[in-house]
Parts: sequence; structure tokens; C-alpha cells
Amino acid sequence: SGPAVYQAEDATISQGVVESNHAGYTGTGFVNYDNVTGSYVEWTVNAATAGPVTLELRFANGTTANRPMTIAVNGTSVTRDFTGTGAWTTWQTVTLTADLAQGVNKIRATATTSNGGPNVDRLSVS
Ligand code: GCU
Repeated sequence: SGPAVYQAEDATISQGVVESNHAGYTGTGFVNYDNVTGSYVEWTVNAATAGPVTLELRFANGTTANRPMTIAVNGTSVTRDFTGTGAWTTWQTVTLTADLAQGVNKIRATATTSNGGPNVDRLSVS
């Protein structure tokens, strides 16, 4: 089977809104992060077994400014660039690896600049 897909619009959102005005998203919409440092989306991912996974974040950034985010997995963080994709309707992916625990995992993507995050469509886990 393919990756497990967790839509951003179904996650816990702090300082952001679900929208659907830019085409190309999956599910029923995407999260438009508020343009503030610290805005975040947090997914709850249940893992049958502990171990390494690939996380893929699908996003759009219609500006020319990078909107880096910190990705925290059970409290361990890495920062990734979410550079301009050319249009709000052009979606790209950023991937990283992480170790999941068996059971409940919290995966949080937090904006690190006052521009907020990019628009985020989904998290895929494989
Ligand atoms: C525009 C765009 C939004 C985006 C926002 C931003 O308003 O329509 O989808 O989130 O810019 O800069 O964050």
C-alpha cells in the first residue's frame, strides 16, 4: 500500500485557517498559516511499530520569500526551507526522515518567521 495521508485541514491548527481558494490541494482544502512566527499545524500519527519513516509535507508558497518551518517529531526538531513554488496553485513537497515511536506520535510544523508558514496541504508517512 502507499503512504498514509494526513490532511492538514484535519489536524490541530494553531494560528491558521482552512481554505480552498487555490486549486491543486488534496482532500477538502489546505491550511493557510497566519503570517506570524509560531503558527503551526500538528498531526497525530499512530504507528504500529517504532522505527524510521519518511515524512513528506506538501505545500505551496506563492511568494518569493522562503518560509522555513521547524518540524518537531515527539519533541525532536529539524528546520526545513519552504521556498517559493511560483504560485499558490503550484504544490511541491519537502521530505525528511524521523523516528516514530510505537503508538501515538505528534508531528508539528511551526513557522519560524513573521511571514508564517507556506500553505500546507498534507503530511504523508511512508
Ligand atoms: C495570500 C494567499 C494565501 C496565503 C497568503 C500568505 O493571501 O491567497 O493563500 O496564505 O497570501 O501570504 O500567507
